[in-house]
This record gives sequence, C-alpha cells and structure tokens, in this order.
Amino acid sequence: MYHRLPAFRSANGTGPGSCYHCSVGHVGFAPFGSWGESVMRRMKGLVLAGGKGSRLRPLTATGAKQLVPVANKPVLFYALEQLVEAGITDIGIITGDTGSQVREAVGDGSAFGARVTYIPQPAPLGLAHAIITAQAYLADDPFCMFLGDNFLMGGIVDHARRFAESSCQGQILLKHVNDPSAFGVAVLDDAGRVTQLVEKPKEPISDLAVIGVFFFGPEVHEITPRLMPSARGELEITDAIQGLIDAGYEVRSSLITDQWVDTGKKDDMLEANRLVLATLKGRIDGSVDHASTIVGEVVIEAGATVAGSTVRGPAVIGAGAVISDAYIGPFTAIGASCTLSGCEIEHSIVLDRSIIRNVSHRIADSLIGREVVIERSPLKPQAIRLLLGDHSSVAVI
Ligand code: G1P
Repeated sequence: MYHRLPAFRSANGTGPGSCYHCSVGHVGFAPFGSWGESVMRRMKGLVLAGGKGSRLRPLTATGAKQLVPVANKPVLFYALEQLVEAGITDIGIITGDTGSQVREAVGDGSAFGARVTYIPQPAPLGLAHAIITAQAYLADDPFCMFLGDNFLMGGIVDHARRFAESSCQGQILLKHVNDPSAFGVAVLDDAGRVTQLVEKPKEPISDLAVIGVFFFGPEVHEITPRLMPSARGELEITDAIQGLIDAGYEVRSSLITDQWVDTGKKDDMLEANRLVLATLKGRIDGSVDHASTIVGEVVIEAGATVAGSTVRGPAVIGAGAVISDAYIGPFTAIGASCTLSGCEIEHSIVLDRSIIRNVSHRIADSLIGREVVIERSPLKPQAIRLLLGDHSSVAVI
C-alpha cells in the first residue's frame, strides 16, 4: 500500500495548489530541494531501452535504436531529461542486447540529475514483461514507464502532477491518430476513464492511440504475472492495463495535443529531428570563414569548421565536423567529426564520423549512419559503387 501526497506547495510555500515559480494560479512542479521534491522522489521512472529496432536496420544492427540521435542528441536522452524535469530522479533502465552501449551513453545518470539502475531483460518479451523484470526495483512505488524510443514534445510535467495528485492506479497518454491499427488503442467513458484497450486492432475501435508514457501504481504487479503472451509472443502493456480495469481499478487518460513521434522508422526520426530543430536557438562555438553564409538558427559546435559553405538553419553541425564547399539545408543534423565537402544535403540526419564528398545530387530526407562514406569516385568508369550492410536502402537517380 502506498499513499500519494500532494505534489505542490503554494507560491508562498504554505500548501499545495499553485506554481512554485510565480504567484499566479497556474500549476507546475516545485523544483528540486523544495517540498515537492520529497514527494515526487517517491515516484520512480522505468525507461525501456531494450528491443530489437528491426524497423531501423541497418542502423540498429549494431546500435541501440534509443541512441539514434535527434538534433545530435540520442532520443533516449529526451525521455531521461523529461522524467527529471517532472521530479522523477530514481530511474531504472531496461536493457537488452545493446545494454553496454546504453550504459556507456547514460552512465550513472548523474549527468541528467538522476540515479540510474540498469535492469537487463533476458529477452524482448514485451512491455508488460519489462515491468515484471523490474518488479524488485520498483517495489511498492508508483512509477512512470517511458518507452525510450518515444519522442514527446512538451514533456510530462503536467501528466506526472495529475497522476501524483490522483488516487487512480493507472494513467495513460492518448493521441488521436490517422492509423490506429499501428498502435494500442483505447476506448473511454464520459469521464475520460479507460474502459477498453486493444493492441493494434484490425478493426479500429477508436482513433485514440496509446503513446509510450504510462503511469502505474503498484497494483499493476498483481496483474502482470497473470498475463499470457499475445499473438506476437509478447506480454502486452495494453493487456496489463485492461487487467487493471477488469480488476476494478481506475485507469485515467490524458489526451495530448503535443507532437509525439514513435521513432521506429527513418521518416519518424526525421520528423522528431524536424520538431526539435524548429525550436533551435542558434550558437556558433566553432569557426566560420568569410566565404561562408549562415542563415537562420544554426548551432555550430566547438571545434567544427565551416569554410566556403552555406548553412541554412535550422541546422546543427556537430563538434569537430569539417564542412567545406557544401550546402547544409534546413532541418539537418550533422554529427560530430563528420566531413562534408562538395555536396548538398537537407532535411537529413548524419551520424558521427561520416564522410560525404563530391556528390553532385542534393541529398535529402536521409538518415546516414556512423562512419559511412558517400563519395563520387575519381576513377573511371564513374559507376555507382556500393558497399551496403544488410537492410540498407538507397534511392538513386
Ligand atoms: C507499443 C505498445 C502500443 C503503443 C506503442 C506506442 O507498441 O504495445 O500499445 O501504442 O508502443 O509507441 P510497439 O512499439 O511494441 O509495437
């Protein structure tokens, strides 16, 4: 049994109800070190960073899908930052085959202001199986489960507050979508309580998709051990939530209007990249020569050099990258230590240490992995020569 306490204090610190930061009536989280912190510390975070990432192969053949960067920052880091922003600093991370990469990237969590505990999942047997795997870590605490490949603009502060203030046993985030059959979907009653969930329904029962942020009380641990694998062989989170409802527990919903991207595929990564870059504030820490033109919001990280080139933002050029005689167009993120010369690229993500040289066609809508080389050969015949990994995809004209 656990007891939820009010998550807020008033502006003058005398009681719950309004924002810590100001004296007006809107609500927000009290920051660390306040009364609100001791309350919110009791909610744990559970971030899922396992799974196979098959839809992002070949990138994910060797790397964790949650570490593919959005605006040069791993998508997983946004989830961690948003949990911490909501006052949730004890975070368990579920890992799979790529666990060592996730550990190396996140460390002990102190860079995020969090205490991270790694919880290896023996096999990717579903989101509800991840909860079973983490049960000893979660103990009797309420928790927020955040899928490490889900990207949510706007964060979770208000949703976490709402759950912390309520006495419900579950709370899920929902969004109207055009393709409900690709997600878990929910049916609500008039009060916004969830009455039914179906995983990837063939005949859509609603257009409200279950997005990858869930709040649970410890009652969910009564349900998960009884679940049976679905047709895809997984213990489904939608079945766990349905189990809570069928057991008489209350599951609330929050309908979100913020942008949300399930970054499983290339175009989804590009969309998340576009959303973040649209909010970019320009900053030049590297060097730009007089023959170059920088237009709009552009971040040029330390050690990067731009010569004889045009960079039209929003765009970010990673640390140590070398850009010469090139055009970098809007909504493009170039990773650290890349070399781009004699080429044009826009609306794309290029991961660290890749080289693009002397390519006559403009590259667009592309996701290019680490240490990739794309260049026009100086040798005749000037055929296209390819060395591509399994599941690569190249569109040539
Ligand atoms: C999982 C859930 C699904 C939810 C989705 C959100 O699907 O099972 O209910 O809508 O995450 O990203 P999966 O990504 O495992 O197919």
